[in-house]
Amino acid sequence: MKRALLVLAALAATFPLAAAAQTASPNAGRDLAAACAICHGTDGRSQGGAPGLAGQPKDTLAKQMRDFRDGRKPGTLMPQLAKGYTDAQIDAVSAFFAVQKK
Ligand code: HEC
Repeated sequence: MKRALLVLAALAATFPLAAAAQTASPNAGRDLAAACAICHGTDGRSQGGAPGLAGQPKDTLAKQMRDFRDGRKPGTLMPQLAKGYTDAQIDAVSAFFAVQKK
């Protein structure tokens, strides 16, 4: 009986995490941000390749992403790249970068 409870507790602890990855949680933002690190630096602290994202206001980041995606803002790489992101993903990744230290 005790063992069954332990298994249940373990399941309960695991599944909410899996569900959270699908929605706009801080973890979802961090996971998405990993794809930006190669150009924008770890946690958005740029090493000079692309503009730094760390510590920029969430709304500014999200607007720029949407503007790239929807063809309102020109760029070399971002217009194409931003096309792969939904509004929810843009909000999540912007929220993540906004709270990173510069
Ligand atoms: C392949 C390299 C590359 C990747 C990957 C990349 N970016 Fe960019 N990003 C750039 C470049 C280069 C610019 C400058 C604009 C341009 O030329 O497209 C830029 C500009 C931006 C800007 C505007 C910043 C400013 O201050 O002007 C934002 C916001 C941004 N990227 C967000 C992201 C996010 C969020 C991701 C991950 C989902 C990401 N980028 C992934 C290369 C990249």
